[in-house]
Amino acid sequence: MMVKENSAMDNLVNLGTRPDCAVIALNAVTREYAGHAGVVRALDRASFSIVAGEWVAITGPSGSGKSTLVNLIGCLDRPTEGQLRIDGADVATMSANELDRFRADKIGFIFQQFHLIPYLSAFENVMLAQYFHSMTDEKEARASLERVGLGQRAEHLPSELSGGEQQRVCIARALINNPPILLADEPTGNLDAANQKIVAGLLQDLHSQGHTIVMVTHDPEMAALAQRKIALSHGKVFCHPVGGGPVITLKR
Ligand SMILES: Nc1ncnc2c1ncn2[C@@H]1O[C@H](COP(=O)(O)OP(=O)(O)OP(=O)(O)O)[C@@H](O)[C@H]1O
Ligand SMILES: [Mg+2]
Repeated sequence: MMVKENSAMDNLVNLGTRPDCAVIALNAVTREYAGHAGVVRALDRASFSIVAGEWVAITGPSGSGKSTLVNLIGCLDRPTEGQLRIDGADVATMSANELDRFRADKIGFIFQQFHLIPYLSAFENVMLAQYFHSMTDEKEARASLERVGLGQRAEHLPSELSGGEQQRVCIARALINNPPILLADEPTGNLDAANQKIVAGLLQDLHSQGHTIVMVTHDPEMAALAQRKIALSHGKVFCHPVGGGPVITLKR
């Protein structure tokens, strides 16, 4: 019997469009902003999937829609049109409270600007993340700081930490409750080369521990660490298959 084997490219296109194995699945997702200057279509019918455990880099020039996309995946914003499923759930159907709970369980955020509370210690900043999970477990907060190599800096204020250390506190905070998805918007954008290397190593560890990582970056070295690139241009999405190679536009 002749069995037609799927080509590697077929498989990759399937990987990009099969919602059943996806932890993040977008179907024709559009986000428009209405401003004084008219309507801006920041994301234009984006359709792709990310499977559990993948590390994906989102790339593209300034204004191409990267943060818009990350805010949608992070359930901080809702699509104007289209469907978005996170871990199988249609987030459009959730109430604001359900969405807050869902986000806290599923997603850890790592920002370029760290967003640490300046008058709280590293430990207290991580404890604060637990507040949003309605839990307080000092041991877990300390373990999270240990996980990023900052056990010895727990009592330091952000101003008493280097930029790289502040970003590691931000990562420790994102790891509270061990969310399956980590969303990072320019995680090394404010770091020097030495600290970038440390944060890159941490993300590699977290990826090998099974976290799905979606990372916006302008830095080709950081993007090269990811298994796949999703490139944005004027709000439109182009995906690279696993391991680099030619750009393919996913079927709609
Ligand atoms: N609240 C808003 N109101 C109106 N337009 C907006 C708003 N937020 C973003 N935009 C527009 O949407 C487009 C995409 O913005 P977005 O912030 O997603 O870009 P980006 O790729 O993250 O850029 P950068 O690399 O500079 O961070 C831009 O043209 C921007 O001007
Ligand atoms: Mg941005």
